[in-house]
Amino acid sequence: MKGIILAGGSGTRLSPLTLAVSKQLLPVYDKPMIYYPLSVLMLAGVRDILLISTPSALPVMQRLLGDGSRLGLNLSYAAQREPRGVAEAFLIGAGHIGHDRSALVLGDNVFHGSGLSEVLCSSRDSLDGCVLFGRPVPDPERYGVGEVDSRGRLVSIEEKPTSPRSNNAITGLYFYDDQVVDIARHIAPSSRGELEITDVNREYLGQGRVRMVELGRGCAWFDCGTHDSLLAAGQYVQLVEKYEGERVACLEEIALRMGFIDAEACYRLGDGMRHSRYGRYLTEIACAPG
Ligand code: G1P
Repeated sequence: MKGIILAGGSGTRLSPLTLAVSKQLLPVYDKPMIYYPLSVLMLAGVRDILLISTPSALPVMQRLLGDGSRLGLNLSYAAQREPRGVAEAFLIGAGHIGHDRSALVLGDNVFHGSGLSEVLCSSRDSLDGCVLFGRPVPDPERYGVGEVDSRGRLVSIEEKPTSPRSNNAITGLYFYDDQVVDIARHIAPSSRGELEITDVNREYLGQGRVRMVELGRGCAWFDCGTHDSLLAAGQYVQLVEKYEGERVACLEEIALRMGFIDAEACYRLGDGMRHSRYGRYLTEIACAPG
């Protein structure tokens, strides 16, 4: 499966934070926002990843993450020149995807929870059509919303409805079969001039090939698109790291646990950042037995 992180957009809802810095490079507590969606793809076992961002942010993203080899990944980069919608990622990423299946994650989405890797890997392995990840929220009108019938089947998907039919937000993580590029090529821009991911998902829904996985209890999700949600995500990460003693979206640790790098490589990466607690955490886990 190929991965795509879409980290485009102008982040105007976060002004003035985003006047000079791309939204996905802002800190979520102790690491740049982009670490979080990248960690999700890694937890799904996806290693060949295209990062799409604005022309001005791309060089900084590249300086931050490089070619990915230090994490056992293969990272490549492409520009989205104008914010023309989430589904444009499949047009920009068509060459990267080829005839493979793909996982798309939005660059401002933070997921965390016990058992997340297992849920992602089993959804990936049983993929037929598309898999969406739903999550109940108090403010569904901000998101894509999925309506499920009494038998748990998805019956409708709407993008930012003014009167949502459910409180089930569709999060910014999507798994697709090899048809998605073709489908994205045939959808028309919405009234806001964007290629909507919801229209791609509706096409799969029409074909009866969508599965909605509920991210329930024990799984946290944030879309860091507003000042409040950005701060909430940072506070959540701070609390988890402080009281559980484990790091959230620690890329080097995930690479080690997933077998992408060995303990010696993890130690070296930590040693290079030994003046921060993050770096010292890496050297400690690299030396820990098991
Ligand atoms: C996008 C999608 C929306 C989804 C959300 C998740 O909205 O269009 O369906 O629920 O991401 O973060 P955006 O945040 O780009 O407005």
